[in-house]
Amino acid sequence: MKLRVGMVGCGMITQKRHAPEYAENKNVEIYGFFDNNEERAFELVKQYGGKIYHDTKEMFDDSNIDAISICTPNHMHSDLTIAALKAGKHVLCEKPMALSLQESSEMILAAEATGKILMIGHNQRLLPAHRKAKEVLESGQLGRILFFQSNFKHSGPENWGVNHSNSTWFFNKAKAQFGVLGDLGSHKLDIIRYLITSEVEEIFTTALTVDKRYDNGEFIDIEDTAISLFRMRNGLTGYMNVSWCNYGSEDNSTVIYCENGVMKIYGDFPEDMVLEMKDGSKIRYQVGGIATNSNQLRSGIIDEFIDAILKNRTPLITGNDGHNTLAVIVAGLKSADTGEWEKVDYSIIGK
Ligand SMILES: NC(=O)c1ccc[n+]([C@@H]2O[C@H](COP(=O)([O-])OP(=O)(O)OC[C@H]3O[C@@H](n4cnc5c(N)ncnc54)[C@H](O)[C@@H]3O)[C@@H](O)[C@H]2O)c1
Repeated sequence: MKLRVGMVGCGMITQKRHAPEYAENKNVEIYGFFDNNEERAFELVKQYGGKIYHDTKEMFDDSNIDAISICTPNHMHSDLTIAALKAGKHVLCEKPMALSLQESSEMILAAEATGKILMIGHNQRLLPAHRKAKEVLESGQLGRILFFQSNFKHSGPENWGVNHSNSTWFFNKAKAQFGVLGDLGSHKLDIIRYLITSEVEEIFTTALTVDKRYDNGEFIDIEDTAISLFRMRNGLTGYMNVSWCNYGSEDNSTVIYCENGVMKIYGDFPEDMVLEMKDGSKIRYQVGGIATNSNQLRSGIIDEFIDAILKNRTPLITGNDGHNTLAVIVAGLKSADTGEWEKVDYSIIGK
């Protein structure tokens, strides 16, 4: 029998990823959509079928629905995820997981109490080159990792979301809570944790607003550019640079420096990953490109969510992954305020 799925929030991420990827999954029946802008839900129903729900309660109370995607602005993630879990649904919640560690802790506890799957949309782990990178790093071919860097820089979410303007919720602190660190940094922090196989012990961050402004001309009150340095638990060091103010081509690259050579992922070359070996040879991998704002590719996040439900297994990206990534962002922003290195506190509040 097919899993019946509902989607809350019918903006860009639902239009570009969730709805098309559910539609392509043979184990899924798209059962319905809710958006407080009903026209957006209506457009998706026209395209993919299913019904329009008039509020989230109506959807969560529908016993026909097995699983729900939460694709709203960040400030709704926690309440909606907890309500859906308590209604007995499996939940795929978009990133960043929540506005605070209090909220993400409550989401984890709700998943544990209900026994339902909670997965977070850190889809970069599923990208073919990141999967290949993980495989190569685990094979030992490159030897020990020495240090690393990761980048995610594009021209900003006002060029992405359904509201193509500076009044986008992405620039509204009450709705987004974080600037580029929550939006793009959360992807790269998850990738760093995944590929380096270690948590961030301490972080030093500079976070600035260098170019993004509200319509009234004032700078937005969240960061549009950030550089973070890491001391990892396993003793490694590395850095991350994220920005919404890169008006050239999108940069989504990661470089991992190892004993036997350098791994370059999604760099400025035609292949998805290149290994530059110590002896001067190069190994090139063409495994499947990376989605950019202007070139959307299948992310694999839906297939992973559905497979985890069907096999009753832990998904590749858990609530704890979302929480730990959030913990690094919270510590990073604290560091940006204090000007000091900050230790990351991963405690799950209330556990
Ligand atoms: N995984 C990724 O790569 C990725 C990429 C982009 C966005 N996201 C995340 O996805 C989420 C949505 O972002 P987006 O780009 O689709 O934004 P968007 O602005 O394009 O769409 C948001 C939608 O949510 C609707 N909405 C607002 N409040 C609602 C509510 N209370 N109930 C129901 N619907 C509501 C809006 O009407 C809008 O249609 C965000 O958390 C964002 O960070 C993830």
